[in-house]
Amino acid sequence: MPKKRSEKNRYLQIIEAMGEGVLLISRKHRIALANTSAETMLGMNKTVEGKRLEEIFSNGTLLEYVDAVFADGERKMFRISSYHDAIGEDAVVRGKGREKQYEFCITLLDDKYAVAMFSDVTMLERLEVVRQDFISNVSHELKTPLTAIAGFAETLAEESLTEEERKGFARIIQKNALHMQRIIADLLLLTSLDRSEIAPTMERTTDTRILQEVKAYTQYKASTKDIEVIYTSSDEAILCSESLVVQALINLVINAVSYSPQKSKVSVSTKRKGEMLEFIVSDRGYGIAEEDIPRIFERFYRVDKARSREDGGTGLGLSIVRHIAIIHKGTIKAESVLGEGSVFTLSLPVS
Ligand SMILES: Nc1ncnc2c1ncn2[C@@H]1O[C@H](COP(=O)(O)OP(=O)(O)OP(=O)(O)O)[C@@H](O)[C@H]1O
Ligand SMILES: [Mg+2]
Repeated sequence: MPKKRSEKNRYLQIIEAMGEGVLLISRKHRIALANTSAETMLGMNKTVEGKRLEEIFSNGTLLEYVDAVFADGERKMFRISSYHDAIGEDAVVRGKGREKQYEFCITLLDDKYAVAMFSDVTMLERLEVVRQDFISNVSHELKTPLTAIAGFAETLAEESLTEEERKGFARIIQKNALHMQRIIADLLLLTSLDRSEIAPTMERTTDTRILQEVKAYTQYKASTKDIEVIYTSSDEAILCSESLVVQALINLVINAVSYSPQKSKVSVSTKRKGEMLEFIVSDRGYGIAEEDIPRIFERFYRVDKARSREDGGTGLGLSIVRHIAIIHKGTIKAESVLGEGSVFTLSLPVS
């Protein structure tokens, strides 16, 4: 019956074209059919068919679910994770040390076969963890100043305060409110930078103009610690989003000042390197331990929480710098020696 055969072929083609992995499993756990997606996800090519499930999934959960589907005929949905879930050389290499998460749905076809559809949700699961961490970090960072505001406002409401005390409490409330405003402004900036489809408006400017702006915004902070910041520029032309680059350098300079002792020295200079222009911010401050360097660009990461918080830091500054580097197709690099100082290099294409 040619018509029937072509119909069967069409179904096989559809199964083959699916992004999800599809396995046809017999009651005795033998794999009667596997599509290419299934084989790719398991890290094998054309070797799965005919094998038993036990040979491929070391994780017993899957077998239990298959047996349960044959026993009660009800569809089962679940997630499994495993390290060495696949056979074959390729699979062993790819699976090594890397946990994979699969989302499975197993349905009974008839009394002989069940069909398992699965997809690799490793990435989704990781994003979910990142999202949860992010939310709990934000809540925590906002909770601290908010608790102070609520507490001092309550005290203010009491009448038995001297004028001096009343002013003092109002100032604390104001300081904490400003801190919350800054966190929110930073988060909004990060979110807008995250949407990389919105390219920043690029304009022609020079390193001299950029450094002038940076100086204007940071000199007050530097003066409070009696720190001299030396700016050296050479009128190099650059096509960039000036306001974002200024923002990135402000963050670097404020860090250099914050994490250095009183009367220390900070320098900001530029250097042309081929098609790139490097902005170099160096300090002779406390420095950063080697193991912390890869982490300081993460959101909310602070090496010394106590010291950073004294300064009202949230740990968002460097992740903003990193984002600004990325959307300009540039890079940010940190070098540091504990107790001696740090050098941050923001490298941006000139055009
Ligand atoms: N120049 C530096 N010298 C020593 N440590 C630094 C320097 N720059 C950054 N760090 C460390 O890296 C951490 C992360 O810096 P980042 O600028 O992202 O956050 P922050 O300064 O704590 O807060 P924010 O910048 O959001 O106010 C800081 O808490 C600090 O521990
Ligand atoms: Mg900072």
